[in-house]
Amino acid sequence: MVEAWFMDGETSDQRLQHHCNPPEYINMDELFKKTGVEYFQINADDYENDNVLQELRKKRNYSYEDEITCSEKCLPDYANKLISFFIEHLHTDEEIRLVLDGSGYFDVRDAQEKWIRVAVTKGDLIIIPAGIYHRFTLDVNNYIKAKRYFVGEPVWLPYNRPADNMDCRKLYLKHQGEGFQKLNKV
Ligand SMILES: [Fe+2]
Repeated sequence: MVEAWFMDGETSDQRLQHHCNPPEYINMDELFKKTGVEYFQINADDYENDNVLQELRKKRNYSYEDEITCSEKCLPDYANKLISFFIEHLHTDEEIRLVLDGSGYFDVRDAQEKWIRVAVTKGDLIIIPAGIYHRFTLDVNNYIKAKRYFVGEPVWLPYNRPADNMDCRKLYLKHQGEGFQKLNKV
């Protein structure tokens, strides 16, 4: 089950939890209002028949899907991959991930530049909006299996920060200024 919290400023191992002291959690409604990140709970054991996922795919035209596994075994040069996933970046499209097994952390910036860590496990579907600065890391279990969805031909290209002049970034900030209401539709 998903959890999210504000991160401390420590630069030790990125795979640790990095809670503030005391921990400062944030629920999914607050996360959406602050960042536009959307969350859905899916039955990962039978996801093809999950109504929420079916509706999402239909309404948002997710025409592409694949499956990825990240672990020390599956990823050549694992240590360097971890470092590259963790470089702050944005995309011109939404990043949609459904966790089928394992776990990991998506870190997203809020409007005050604070990092919010979203801890995802089996059955968590997260949609990271286009234009938000974010990064990913595996946690100390070093294993995640996830579905990726996309509208049209997939583009996984990351644009590292700074990318403030990109249209998707400007549009994201506009939506943030408006409180993201219009995007809050399945
Ligand atoms: Fe990304």
